[in-house]
Amino acid sequence: MSSISRGIVVTGANGFVGKNLRNFLHKNKIKVLGISRKNFRKHVSEVKITSTNLLEPKLQTKLKNYDALIHLIGIGRQSSKSTFEEINLNLTKKCN
Ligand SMILES: NC(=O)c1ccc[n+]([C@@H]2O[C@H](COP(=O)([O-])OP(=O)(O)OC[C@H]3O[C@@H](n4cnc5c(N)ncnc54)[C@H](OP(=O)(O)O)[C@@H]3O)[C@@H](O)[C@H]2O)c1
Repeated sequence: MSSISRGIVVTGANGFVGKNLRNFLHKNKIKVLGISRKNFRKHVSEVKITSTNLLEPKLQTKLKNYDALIHLIGIGRQSSKSTFEEINLNLTKKCN
C-alpha cells in the first residue's frame, strides 16, 4: 500500500463493492476519488466529486492525478435501457 502516493479512483463507488472498497482504502489512509451518478452516502467524507460521464474532459484531467483506477461499474441484470454489452463491455472499454 505504501507505493500508492496519489490515491485511487473508484468507479461504481456507491455500489456494494465500491462502498466497502472506499472504506477499506480510507482506513488505510489512501486518498480516494469516488465516481458515481448519485451523491455519496454520508459516512464517507473523502470523496471529491461525483459524475456520470467518465469521458468528460475535466474528469479525465483529474484522473491523471491518481495512481490507479478500479472500475466497479457493472450490472448483473439486463434491461431494455441497459444491456450487458453496453455497460459491462462497452463502458468498461471506454474507461481504459
Ligand atoms: N457483489 C459481489 O459479490 C461481486 C462479486 C463478483 C464480482 N462483482 C462485480 O463487481 C462489480 C461491482 O459489483 P457490486 O456488487 O458493487 O454492484 P452494485 O452494487 O450493483 O454497484 C454497481 C455500480 O455500477 C454503477 N452503474 C450501473 N450502471 C451504470 C451506468 N449505466 N452508468 C454508470 N454507472 C453505472 C452503479 O452506479 P451508481 O451508484 O451511480 O448507480 C453502481 O454503483 C460488478 O462488475 C460485479 O459484477 C461483484
